Amino acid sequence: MIYTEEHIDTGNLPEHVAIIMDGNGRWAKLHNQPRIFGHRNGVKAVREATEHSARLGIKYLTLYAFSTENWNRPKLEVNALMSLLVETTAKEVKTLNKNNIRLQAIGDLEKLPSRTRKALQDGIDRTAHNERMTLTLALNYSGRWDIMQAGRSLMEEAERTGKDFSEINEEDWQRHMSTSKMPDPELLIRTSGENRISNFLLWQMAYTELVFLDILWPDFTKESLYEALYIYQHRERRFGKTSDQLRVT
Ligand code: FPP
Repeated sequence: MIYTEEHIDTGNLPEHVAIIMDGNGRWAKLHNQPRIFGHRNGVKAVREATEHSARLGIKYLTLYAFSTENWNRPKLEVNALMSLLVETTAKEVKTLNKNNIRLQAIGDLEKLPSRTRKALQDGIDRTAHNERMTLTLALNYSGRWDIMQAGRSLMEEAERTGKDFSEINEEDWQRHMSTSKMPDPELLIRTSGENRISNFLLWQMAYTELVFLDILWPDFTKESLYEALYIYQHRERRFGKTSDQLRVT
């Protein structure tokens, strides 16, 4: 079945969609090409996901572009990914501005090569005024890192303000997460047929609907986005309640 915009209820969209873009390497292999060829074609899919999310009215799109574990890949691939990031950010700023999309990044950004950090910061600064959608790249990101850094920062704050650590609640912790300014994602999409979270937004995905698509990331199109949204809209989100309780209100 091919999913179109008509399948989507635009009155019931998730505010925040997160994506694990998986399968670039396998896609390249299928085409008898080096892995970076897959990543380059992955950028096209990033464009497609971004453009159509914004067009539908999704407010936050967060993409897992580089995990802390990805440093273990061959140096050549890591360097190529970093270059692709610099190149893409520089090239896409104009389009982001034209579409009123703000660029953001989360992760342990200080450990990125300085040219990557600079290009990223430049993209963030030049799109800071946009408000239709926030596109967040998770770079050198891991869910455990995020929880750890929030804990550290909370302890520092408690030390400074004299607050008793036993009084710290979930909201306090949330304020220190790298995603503190956005709602938790209602929907996570992962491509390539793998059914894992892989250390992505662990804290934030407590109630997220997980949709696993059986396509490789470079093949992701607007129809794939519609399909994931369609599946999301046909799930019942209960947050620990019973189905009957949901129907009362
Ligand atoms: C996963 O495929 C993909 C990545 C680790 C990198 C994602 C990067 C891009 C799509 C390009 C750069 C992005 C931006 C936002 C400019 P994989 O290599 O793990 O594939 P495999 O599992 O088939 O090996």
